[in-house]
Amino acid sequence: MRDIVIKTNVHACQMNELTEEERELVEIAKNQTNNSYCPYSKFHVGAAAKLENGIIIKGANQENAAYPSGLCAERSALFAAGANYPDVPVTTLAIACFTDGHFTDEPGSPCGSCRQVMIETEHRYGKPMKVILYGEKELFVFDNASDLMPVGFFSEDLKG
Ligand code: THU
Repeated sequence: MRDIVIKTNVHACQMNELTEEERELVEIAKNQTNNSYCPYSKFHVGAAAKLENGIIIKGANQENAAYPSGLCAERSALFAAGANYPDVPVTTLAIACFTDGHFTDEPGSPCGSCRQVMIETEHRYGKPMKVILYGEKELFVFDNASDLMPVGFFSEDLKG
C-alpha cells in the first residue's frame, strides 16, 4: 500500500485584508442571507458570484418540504450564472451563513455537492475561481475551487 498525502491551501484573514471589490462581494453574500428560504433548517446561506464582465449573480439556499428538492446557496448562484451568462467565467464566489440571529463565527463550509459544482465551473472556463467563506471571527479564502476539493471528479474521468 502506498500512502498519498494531499495538501491544500487556504488563507485565513480578516475583512480588511480583502480588496474593496471582494469586501463588496462578501457584503452582498451576507445580505443575501435575507433571501434564504429555510423554514426547515433555519440556516440562512447567502452567495454572490462575480463574473469576469463585472456582473454579480446572487444566490440563497432554497429549501423544500420534500427535503432533497431544495438547493444550496452556492449552487443557486452558480447555476443562475451559467443559465444567464454561459460564456462568462466566474472569477469569485463569496458565501456567508446566518443562524440563531447572527452570522456564524467560523467560515461556512460548502457541502460536497457545491464543491463539485464549483470545480466544474472553474474547469469549464479554464480560469481559477476564488472562493471566499465569511465568518465573524475570520474568513477563509481559497485561490481556486480545486483547493476546496482535491481529487475531484472531472469530465475527463468519464472517459475511463
Ligand atoms: N447550505 C447551503 O446553502 N450551503 C452550504 O454550503 C451548506 C448548506 C444550506 C442547505 C440547507 O438549506 C441548509 O443550508 C442546511 O443544511
